[in-house]
Amino acid sequence: MLEKVDPPTDRCRPVLFALSLGDRRRQREVDAARHLLECQICAQLSRPLLERGQASDNEKVIPIRGDADIVLARQGAREAAAQLKFTRTELTVIATAVSEIARNIVRFADEGEIAIELVEKPYLGVRITARDAGPGIPDVDLALADGYSTYHGLGLGLPGARRLMDDFAVVSELGRGTTVTMTKWEKRGIQ
Ligand SMILES: Nc1ncnc2c1ncn2[C@@H]1O[C@H](COP(=O)(O)OP(=O)(O)O)[C@@H](O)[C@H]1O
Ligand SMILES: [Mg+2]
Repeated sequence: MLEKVDPPTDRCRPVLFALSLGDRRRQREVDAARHLLECQICAQLSRPLLERGQASDNEKVIPIRGDADIVLARQGAREAAAQLKFTRTELTVIATAVSEIARNIVRFADEGEIAIELVEKPYLGVRITARDAGPGIPDVDLALADGYSTYHGLGLGLPGARRLMDDFAVVSELGRGTTVTMTKWEKRGIQ
C-alpha cells in the first residue's frame, strides 16, 4: 500500500530545483541532504534526480532566470557550435531553437538552466539540454503541435525547435518540471 504523504511545501521547491540541476554546491546551500531526511515527498521525488548524475566537464551550463539569460544561452550555443563546421545558417538555426526553449523556461517555469555540450558520438554535434523545475507540461504531444499555446503565444516554440534541430525530446512531469534535449549534427561529418 502507498503511504500517504503531504504535498510539497515552499521549502521543497529550492531543494528539488537544486537536485534537478544536479548542482552540488546549490544542494549544499539549501541543505538538501537534511531536507531529504525530513521530507518524505522530496525523498521520493528526488530518487530519479539523484540517479541522473552530474554534468560533465565539457558542458557549459547557463542559468536561465530572465530575458538577458535567453541572449546568453543563444550566444553560448552559437559559440560552442562554431567550434564545429556548422555553416552560418546552421549556427543561426541552433541559436533560434535555443532562444525558443530558453524563452519557455522564463515564461512558464520562471527559472532553469541550459546546458550546451559538444558531442562526438555517433557524429560531431552540439547537444542542448534545457531543464526546469517548473509546473511541467500536462500533454507533451499537444504542446508539440503547431499553434498550441496556454498563454496566447504563437505556439510555435516547441514544434519550431523540433523542426530546426535533428534530435529532439521533451520529458515533463506535472509539478516536477520539464527537460528538453535537442541535438544538431554537423552534417558534413556524416558520410
Ligand atoms: N518549460 C515549460 N514548462 C511548462 N510548460 C511549457 C514549457 N515549455 C512549453 N510549455 C507549454 O507548451 C506550450 C507550447 O509551447 P510553445 O510551442 O513554445 O508555444 P508558446 O510559447 O507560444 O506558448 C506552452 O504554451 C506551454 O503551455
Ligand atoms: Mg514558446
